[in-house]
Amino acid sequence: MTAPGKDHNAELQAAAKRNLWLHFTRMSSYSDNDIPMIVRGSGQYVYDQHGKRYLDGLSGLFVSQIGHGRREVAEAGARQGSELAYFPLWSYAHPRAIELAERLADLAPGDLNRVFFTTSGSEAVESAWKLAKQYFKIVGEPGRYKVISRDIAYHGTSMGALAITGLAGIKAPFEPLPPGGIRVPNTNFYRAPEFVAGDLEGFGRWAAGEIERAILREGPDSVAAVFLEPLQNSGGCFPPPPGYFGRVREICDRYGVLLVSDEVICAFGRLGYYFGSQRYRYQPDIITFAKGVTSGYSPLGGMLVSDRLMEPFTAGPASFLHGVTFAGHPVSCAVALANLDVFEKEDLLGNVRANEAGFRATLRKLNDLPIVGDVRGDGYFYGIELVKDKSTRETFSDSESERLLRGYLSQALFDAGLVCRADDRGDPVIQLAPPLTCTQEHFDEMEQILRSVLTKAWARL
Ligand SMILES: Cc1ncc(COP(=O)(O)O)c(C=O)c1O
Repeated sequence: MTAPGKDHNAELQAAAKRNLWLHFTRMSSYSDNDIPMIVRGSGQYVYDQHGKRYLDGLSGLFVSQIGHGRREVAEAGARQGSELAYFPLWSYAHPRAIELAERLADLAPGDLNRVFFTTSGSEAVESAWKLAKQYFKIVGEPGRYKVISRDIAYHGTSMGALAITGLAGIKAPFEPLPPGGIRVPNTNFYRAPEFVAGDLEGFGRWAAGEIERAILREGPDSVAAVFLEPLQNSGGCFPPPPGYFGRVREICDRYGVLLVSDEVICAFGRLGYYFGSQRYRYQPDIITFAKGVTSGYSPLGGMLVSDRLMEPFTAGPASFLHGVTFAGHPVSCAVALANLDVFEKEDLLGNVRANEAGFRATLRKLNDLPIVGDVRGDGYFYGIELVKDKSTRETFSDSESERLLRGYLSQALFDAGLVCRADDRGDPVIQLAPPLTCTQEHFDEMEQILRSVLTKAWARL
């Protein structure tokens, strides 16, 4: 192997272009440019192959809650690897999966006492839909298979999860998808319909009511579940209006529909609580999780399931006919336990709750820029919506958005030392979800970089 250095970096770059396929990435955009390569991380920062430092304003991909370079978490994985690297959860258990399941059940709201592990968020969502379908078949309601989710919401990429995802652009190449995915409006108050514009609670009542109308339209006996994120990521951080989840819970109960809280992003401190549903005070039937459960030191996902849903599987011949080889991998479970130890030792939830007002206020300073239409979010999770005209809220055309986001902003923010996400899957937004260890100095750094790059972006329009 070549020693690390200039030549090795050049070789890696050539090999990346030749052999590596990046996800959701236009590979052609790197034909004349280097692929950015991150080689190490420490705390809230990551470093590229030249040693340049970047503030990780997105926790990688909403993952690195405890930050980078935590030796004790990595070592917990290494120790587990030498004790028992692998054994399946098919008919067997292993100590770390048991300990983690018990710990997650203790942390989760209400009677979500059963943990089914997966390796990713998409698999968690896929598993939740499959469980809902099998559950209703067992309890004598076999017609329930449909799932309701919100416009522009992202719930993963496997075929079932993609059918729940509300982003037409990333679904089109894979149609036909499994039938039964039904869409309802999301909670983007900045773009609320005129009859509820300016009335947040009225907007929430209307948006929750749209779920009821969808259930009635589809036929309540055909609907299995509603999949909602506590705070919707895609589209740029849509918090729930006050009262929204209370109404959704009532509607689900009225029609016997399951409420699945997709917390792949919103769990593990992102909103200042272990689970997003705790922040917004609602009780789901299933929580799906991934990402922050290990802070990315090893992959893991899963779902927390209520006692009621588990009940038909606790007696007689029934088993949930679903599984994946690496789900609940011993190394990942050991890492998740060590990750949760860091949460406790450093009171990361307390840090988010104590500092989120400062984070919000710092980002809201950007409101004085003509390109910033809305700054919204909760906890350590914010979206900044970019507009062409602040007073009319006019958004950019597809070609302007392409030039602005892909042609300039993404690269310029990275070049300026900030990892964040410029996303145009809904209206153009910049997403921020930094490690939960961040404090005011990091918020200031984000604000300064954003201010300078957005000012230049405006001048180029
Ligand atoms: C809400 C939500 N659900 C599901 C997923 C899919 O997770 P994964 O990429 O681990 O498959 C994501 C990924 O970002 C997500 O944000």
